[in-house]
Amino acid sequence: MDKNEEIIQLLKTYNQEHIIQLLEKLEGKQKEDLIEQINRIDFHQIMELYENTKKEIEIKENKIEAIKYLDKEKLTKNEIETFNELGEKIIISGKYAVVTMAGGQGTRLGHTGPKGTFKLDVYGKGKYLFEILAENLKEANKKYNTIIPWYIMTSKENNEMTQEFLERNNYFGYDRNNVMLFEQGELPLINTEGKMLIGKNLKIKEASDGNGGVFSSLRKRGMLADMKERGIEWIFIGGVDNAILKMADITLLGMAIEKNVQIASKSVVKANPHERVGVFCKMNGHPKVIEYTELPEQMAEEVDNNGELKFGESHIMCNLFTIDAIEKISKEPLIYHSAFKKNSYIDENGREIIPEEPNSYKFEAFIFDSFELFDDIAILRGKREDDFAPVKNKDGVDSPKTAKELYEKYWERQK
Ligand code: UTP
Repeated sequence: MDKNEEIIQLLKTYNQEHIIQLLEKLEGKQKEDLIEQINRIDFHQIMELYENTKKEIEIKENKIEAIKYLDKEKLTKNEIETFNELGEKIIISGKYAVVTMAGGQGTRLGHTGPKGTFKLDVYGKGKYLFEILAENLKEANKKYNTIIPWYIMTSKENNEMTQEFLERNNYFGYDRNNVMLFEQGELPLINTEGKMLIGKNLKIKEASDGNGGVFSSLRKRGMLADMKERGIEWIFIGGVDNAILKMADITLLGMAIEKNVQIASKSVVKANPHERVGVFCKMNGHPKVIEYTELPEQMAEEVDNNGELKFGESHIMCNLFTIDAIEKISKEPLIYHSAFKKNSYIDENGREIIPEEPNSYKFEAFIFDSFELFDDIAILRGKREDDFAPVKNKDGVDSPKTAKELYEKYWERQK
């Protein structure tokens, strides 16, 4: 069988006849590009993910328990000093790097362009989210007399725009040689009949594979190797959309070292027992973030002997990993979650269809699903007003308005 026939056979096997028709219509470079893409896609994996969307979620007999955490507020002076000393040493000796995940689509915010290019209306003049992050890192560099390597994960869709934006703004004064952009992976979008959507560029339409894609992308794009070369031991991974994110928190880092774990994470306590956030727990003996939809109501309300919610620590995308942990996770398949979303596509007649209702599945891995590959992680409870000012929604909760208020109040308190 020649190469062409093999491809046609593959597409038939996976029920993608519309792509065969498209291939027949294309010529030259466009045809070559589509063939290259077909060769790269793991059709078996995608079809399995599609089949999973039709299955009822399995209700397994999971053993859910509360997980231990330390409350930063309640640490003794001695504990704080021990942690800070350990953390500081790592940063000063150049063994610390930061990854910003900026590959999301930011659909809820509705800003055109990468989310990091969104200007938060603070102090009249406003600051871009990337600018706020750069300032946080520059402050740490000054304090610890170092230059923390800053890795920024983009998507295929927003990489060029991100690069141009950062160039135009001179990386907000960050040392250019220590900023590394890398693209994350993508997975095809599938309609309800299991057909891959076709995009405007007459290729199979793909979308970012979720923030959990960060581990394999770090390895595949050579970033892990770059970190090893620089002698990095600890890596902070955070999002692009928290206006008061602390990317070089020596207490968190020192706690992880002292507790001899490979992962540490910061939490903030749930605003109320029914806040719609994922919370930390132990499931079947392993650390996990459990979605609010999966946490039985009575457990969500349960309190411990101190009157604190047993499952009250919410995950705020503030995670620290050893380089070995990242290497290990990057080689393990994480679970993919499916989201049913609206995605435009090109139909058999070459027309662009912009759906009014969700029409297709997007598959995403989540960073916190990596926790269960380990026996333990260390959790440090921070404070909402000091650690968490998310920019998620256009209006209402977790919006630019609430983030601006939190940001300004935070900096007011630092004066
Ligand atoms: P969210 O899951 O909140 O997604 O990302 P989002 O793209 O910002 O917003 P919506 O859901 O489309 O409205 C949390 C963090 O993970 C990054 C985002 O950029 C953000 O920093 N992320 C998310 C990625 O880097 N890649 C992805 O594929 C998804």
